[in-house]
Amino acid sequence: MFLSVRAALTSDSEQPDVTVRGWVRTRRDSKGFSFLAVNDGSCLASIQTVIDHGVPGSEALSKATTGASVEVTGKLVPSPGKGQAWEVAATAMRLVGCADDSYPLQKKGHTPEFLRSIAHLRPRSNLFGAVFRTRSRLAFAVHQFFNEHGFTYVHTPIVTASDCEGAGEMFRVTTLDGAALQEDPSGATDFFGKPTFLTVSGQLEGETFACALTNIYTFGPTFRAENSHTTRHAAEFWMIEPEMAFCDLEGDMSLAEEMVKHLVADALEHCADDLEFFGKFVDKGLLGRLREVAEKPFQRVSYTEAVEILKASGKTFEYPPEWGANLQTEHERYLTEEHFGGPVTVHDYPKSAKPFYMRANDDGRTVAAMDLLVPGIGEIVGGSQREERLEQLLANMDAHGIDRDDYSWYADLRRYGTVPHAGFGLGFERLLMFITGVANIRDVIPFPRTPGNAEF
Ligand code: 4AD
Ligand code: MG
Repeated sequence: MFLSVRAALTSDSEQPDVTVRGWVRTRRDSKGFSFLAVNDGSCLASIQTVIDHGVPGSEALSKATTGASVEVTGKLVPSPGKGQAWEVAATAMRLVGCADDSYPLQKKGHTPEFLRSIAHLRPRSNLFGAVFRTRSRLAFAVHQFFNEHGFTYVHTPIVTASDCEGAGEMFRVTTLDGAALQEDPSGATDFFGKPTFLTVSGQLEGETFACALTNIYTFGPTFRAENSHTTRHAAEFWMIEPEMAFCDLEGDMSLAEEMVKHLVADALEHCADDLEFFGKFVDKGLLGRLREVAEKPFQRVSYTEAVEILKASGKTFEYPPEWGANLQTEHERYLTEEHFGGPVTVHDYPKSAKPFYMRANDDGRTVAAMDLLVPGIGEIVGGSQREERLEQLLANMDAHGIDRDDYSWYADLRRYGTVPHAGFGLGFERLLMFITGVANIRDVIPFPRTPGNAEF
């Protein structure tokens, strides 16, 4: 019977005849037999296989070096070695594929920087195996969370004609060459007959479905041509965007907080070995921090109060805190790491710093926006209540220089049966950085795309 290494290591009984397959992590030779540690990525641990030099296939043992692929058949028996419950006493082995001594991954740990330079092989390292198992589990947990809360999953388009955030950070999608583009900047002769872009957010399209199916979410790749060379920005990243009809900012913040807590708790429960590994090798304080996040309520503070806190902090910031300006990462980190000592939701931001779709508050100078900030990273969620009043929305569009005709479909949602509605975007990679302790966004996405870098 074929067993994954994970299934073999968690077996509850001896088994007479199993086959495991995977890649050799190490080989240790003794008189008359060899030990092969075999890893198939199904879990962090490798399984020890004990291969008597007399069993069929063992003549190839000398070629079963680190990185080679093998298939080992034998008996699953209790292991006398420490740290593992089971091992395979081989009755046969098969060398599937050799790896010569240029194989770059060796037993000693490698730095994330080195591993990034071999992005096609890094999934075979302990670190990346752990990160991408956690990523997979959390993607599942996101769907499970929304499914259990009665949300409908909507696939919003990757190619779009609208600019949700209005920040001018869109990648144009075109089949025209440079000269044709210059002749026809309106895109009339382009593939779609108008200028189109890779989406920066599924929100606007998501709103059309929320204003029909009530509670929806999107979960897909988004793209931003931001020239940000930071450890928290990628040009391609995944975002989870719920949108709820009949919901205000309060309900929006509550859902964001509940969801982040739920995902942290899910990882603690279902990715325990991988998280323990991160706690040992990536970030010593990780597990304690995550447990606190799962258990303690998050704090909330208005933007205006946050600016007061920053001003009163006595700290010298590179960007002095000033009412009206967006919070910088240094401000966000001070708030979460030093002042509140945990996640905090900042709400009601100045209107001037925010996109056209956010709902104006009665004070005339703030909008019903919120960002959820966490220690070590800063913003992982950005959201808002949307402007559901037609007149105000049209005025905002005008103020932001947005063509009413281009967004008439968006205004229609307010023309026909408008409802208060709200939503947010959770950056999936930022969440993964928070949960794994991995400090660079490039190490939590399989094939990172950043300025000047799009390998494979
Ligand atoms: O705050 P943002 O820009 O919000 C929106 O796009 C809204 N339309 C979402 C909504 O209300 N439906 O982005 C949301 C989140 C951020 O909090 C951050 O976690 C992540 O997306 N994010 C990025 N992650 C990685 N690289 C980038 N360049 C990112 N830009 C935003
Ligand atoms: Mg934001």
